[in-house]
Amino acid sequence: MSAPIRIPDGFVEELKARIRPSDVIGRKVKLKKQGKEWVGLSPFTNEKSPSFYVNDQKRIFKDFSSGIGGDVISFVMETERLSFMEAVEKLADEAGMQLPKATAADEETYDRRKRLYECCEAACAFYEDRLRAAEGTEARAYLEGRGLGAGAWARHRLGYAPDDWRTTIEHLKSKGFSDREILESGLSVQKEGGGDPYDRFRGRVIFPITDVRGQVIAFGGRGMAPDAKPKYLNSNDTELFHKGRVLYRYKDARTAFGDTDEGGLIVTEGYMDAIALAEAGIGHAVAPLGTALTEDQLALLWRAGPEPVLCFDGDAAGLRAAYRSIERALPFLEPGRSLFFCLLSGGMDPDDLIRQSGPEAMKQALAGAVPLVEVLWQRERDAEPIDTPERQAGLEARLMQAAAHIKNPAVKAAYERDLKARMNEHLWQLRRSRRERTFSGGGAPPKKGAKQTAAAPKTRGLGLIIRAIDNPHLIDFGFETLSMSVFRDEDVAILRDVIISWPQAGKGVDREAIRDHLEERGNTRAAELLKNYPEIPKIEPDGPEEREWLIALEQYVARDDSSPYGGGSGDDVTASPENWRRLHHEVAERKARAARLNEAAEQADQD
Ligand code: UTP
Ligand code: MN
Repeated sequence: MSAPIRIPDGFVEELKARIRPSDVIGRKVKLKKQGKEWVGLSPFTNEKSPSFYVNDQKRIFKDFSSGIGGDVISFVMETERLSFMEAVEKLADEAGMQLPKATAADEETYDRRKRLYECCEAACAFYEDRLRAAEGTEARAYLEGRGLGAGAWARHRLGYAPDDWRTTIEHLKSKGFSDREILESGLSVQKEGGGDPYDRFRGRVIFPITDVRGQVIAFGGRGMAPDAKPKYLNSNDTELFHKGRVLYRYKDARTAFGDTDEGGLIVTEGYMDAIALAEAGIGHAVAPLGTALTEDQLALLWRAGPEPVLCFDGDAAGLRAAYRSIERALPFLEPGRSLFFCLLSGGMDPDDLIRQSGPEAMKQALAGAVPLVEVLWQRERDAEPIDTPERQAGLEARLMQAAAHIKNPAVKAAYERDLKARMNEHLWQLRRSRRERTFSGGGAPPKKGAKQTAAAPKTRGLGLIIRAIDNPHLIDFGFETLSMSVFRDEDVAILRDVIISWPQAGKGVDREAIRDHLEERGNTRAAELLKNYPEIPKIEPDGPEEREWLIALEQYVARDDSSPYGGGSGDDVTASPENWRRLHHEVAERKARAARLNEAAEQADQD
């Protein structure tokens, strides 16, 4: 194999100009002409109605069901799982364009890197071998003690670095590697100002770190003593290895994850956690290398799946780490592309949890992962007391500030709506619980900073009904589902009965009139509920929120306890995670479609 070719300046632009995207994409996706664009079924999801667009003028494609979009090169990369280079080579061939031969300098770089890969691979094999040798006795016992037997050593290529200063170096030299190559692979250390190089890893259990193609590029070494300093020693950054651009187990995790378009990789904090998950049958687990997630690592995660799940300890440090990831991710959120969080309780990491309670407990914890927006909301809600109007305004400002970091306008708008709705519902609960305390004559007002939770009577579904009252087009829109719904709370049921029969009386739906009507009938509690419910922001006919409302209502009918709106008053405003996730998917798809319509409209304005 010779060096990959270097791409000259302007080559890619020329290539993209020569190729008509619909020609290349049309071979994979059946496309129909629609105005200036081509439309078809997404090759990335198994959607039923087409939301995949190709625009030959702009030379781009956009898939609204998965959020994936880009130029013809990224299409080939995504659908044929090729690297950028490989995709360019392939398309250049088609376009009859010649890539220049590699220069001597390219060949040299390539050969040097190739030697470094080979050196890392040789070291990895050496460490694996040493684990099984006499000197590996303690390391084997250590791993066994942590539940990892010979099968796991082989699967993760675990090893042992002899407790010596030059054993690894000597071994690699005997395999033909030079001092310099060994140093540049990160396997030896040379003190500044000369001196003999010595082995970087000594007397440690070795975890090899691979690149996206599965080639070994670095190592992590764990000291076995409880007070080992440092606990984990990692390779320094080298020409092959940059710790912020790599995820431990990424290649294996992607293989295990497959080509699914739902969910994403699971991110743990440590090597041992990723391994423990894999050994428990959850093969799509990775770990960063002891640092907070970087942008590059987020990009790697999203290449594998749209909704990676980040696991953290549920303690203060874990929360802080989760918050940092949120800050990193916000700017890059896109329709259908987000993060979920799994906060483990009891100060345990996934490895501890699996060893203590088994794989099922871990799976359960993962199923309980909550969306990014939920963690963001909780963070701001709990950051400061919100017991005065000024502080409440402060909360709103913080929420909007966070949303402002999102670059994608459709996602940003959705966050603003969602966060405001959460805030309104929460403040409403607070007011309500305060009022109830006052009515029952008990207790002092909540202390500043006290945890503000409301225990209010269940009036599930109220929020859904009120939304329909404030936006009567919803009544028509969801008429059948509304009529079918069973509301456990008697007064919520009465409200529903009133609104679905209201239009027959020939009157416009309005809160005041309905309230009067209820009071006349003696339904004072129903009237109260209506009166006290905070005003609902306008929901546009035919808009995404209208669909959201209907989905929430449908889920309410199906599960009775599942809607993020169902908790309108007194319920937990967050639905169960599985439902949330399903709803989130559908809604994301619809919002994306709405965004496309907006974009199309804007384009029409420009044309
Ligand atoms: P933790 O200290 O949380 O350890 O480090 P852990 O993963 O639970 O490890 P065990 O179970 O005690 O063996 C998490 C990750 O942080 C990096 C490593 O990548 C580790 O997997 N780390 C930690 C270091 O790089 N250096 C250290 O000294 C400690
Ligand atoms: Mn651990």
